[in-house]
Amino acid sequence: MRKKIVAGNWKMNLDYASGVSLFSEIVNMVRDEKNGDQIAIICSPYIHLNSLAKLGGEVVKIGAQNCHQNDNGAFTGEISAGMVKSVGCEYVIIGHSERRQYFAESNELLAQKTVKALENDLTPLFCIGETLDERNNGSYFEVLKTQLEQGVFGLSAADFSKVVIAYEPVWAIGTGLTATSAQAQEVHAYIRKEIAAKYSNEIAEATSILYGGSCNPKNAAELFAQQDIDGGLIGGASLKSRDFVDIVKAFN
Ligand code: G3P
Repeated sequence: MRKKIVAGNWKMNLDYASGVSLFSEIVNMVRDEKNGDQIAIICSPYIHLNSLAKLGGEVVKIGAQNCHQNDNGAFTGEISAGMVKSVGCEYVIIGHSERRQYFAESNELLAQKTVKALENDLTPLFCIGETLDERNNGSYFEVLKTQLEQGVFGLSAADFSKVVIAYEPVWAIGTGLTATSAQAQEVHAYIRKEIAAKYSNEIAEATSILYGGSCNPKNAAELFAQQDIDGGLIGGASLKSRDFVDIVKAFN
């Protein structure tokens, strides 16, 4: 049975005190209101991770938003998978479109980062998604297949089984323009079909595939009701405790 997951991506927001305060609200609300076995995760900036890991316990899990592809060394400003693991992270976002865009992260680099995350017993939330041009010109399936093949399809079946895929159409991120549930389901079903072709039906059926891109309390239930959507990767709405917890609860 594949896991239902709602992960918040705070991106570059919240100073230390604000992050701890918001997270405490979220933990209390999830503890009181969660209505199933879904997993709630917050992926915060590095400065919060250790404190949030202590506060979250088994109620809300912690993830990082990135990690370096090396274990250590002369990489000023970088943070390794082992470091984020050591402060209590269980998850790490790999290949968010903003890192692909602003930090020129290639599929090949992201494949290395994914291996390093797995070596350090972190669950990668591996992001793929097409741009508006690629959506409009109809090349999005090809783009997504390339991102999968070059990013994670080099993994063994055992290692791939530990990966969560997040489909985030770039044109829906932060725009308020959410993919329709039909558009999202079409792509999720395609991703699952590609996983089955690469590995097996069993692995495909067990892989959690999350949707990200302007997911909010109003559209989450319809999205999560789709056969191949197993939850969400949430940006803006994760910065508001009521909105984020309402999305966590949105599984019918
Ligand atoms: O990683 C999730 C993020 O990219 C989605 O952002 O604000 O559209 O929910 P948002």
